[in-house]
Amino acid sequence: MITRIDHLGIAVTSLDEAITYYENVLGLICEGREEVESQNVRTAFFAVGDVHIELLEPTSDESPIAKFLAKNGPGIHHVAFATDDITGQLARAKDHGARLIHEEPFAGAGDKLVAFLHPKSTFGVLTEFCQTAR
Ligand code: CO
Repeated sequence: MITRIDHLGIAVTSLDEAITYYENVLGLICEGREEVESQNVRTAFFAVGDVHIELLEPTSDESPIAKFLAKNGPGIHHVAFATDDITGQLARAKDHGARLIHEEPFAGAGDKLVAFLHPKSTFGVLTEFCQTAR
C-alpha cells in the first residue's frame, strides 16, 4: 500500500542555481547530490519534514528530464508515493487500467526501487512509486 508522499521531483536546468534558491530563499539544507546514470540525471535532495524535494538536472539530451524541460520548461516533474510493496502497487495500477512506463521497478536515487506511471493515464501527473530497498 501507499504510505505517504515520498518526494516531489522538480526539473531544473541548473542544479547549482536551484540549490542556491532552495538554500537561500527557503532556508532548506541540501542533504546530498547523486547522479543516476540510468536516467541521465543529476539530483539533489532537500528534506521538508517527511517529504523530500528532488531536484533533477539532465546530464544529456537523451535524459527524460531534458525532454521535459524542452517541452514545459522548469517546474514540477513528478509526484512520488512511497509504498511498502512496489510490485503489488504496479500490478494494482495495471489491473485498473493505468499505463505503466516501467513494468519492473529499477534502482533510482537514494537506494530506492522506483517505477513510473504514464501521465496520460494519471490525469496529467507523472506518478512514481518508490520503495526503500531492503
Ligand atoms: Co523521483
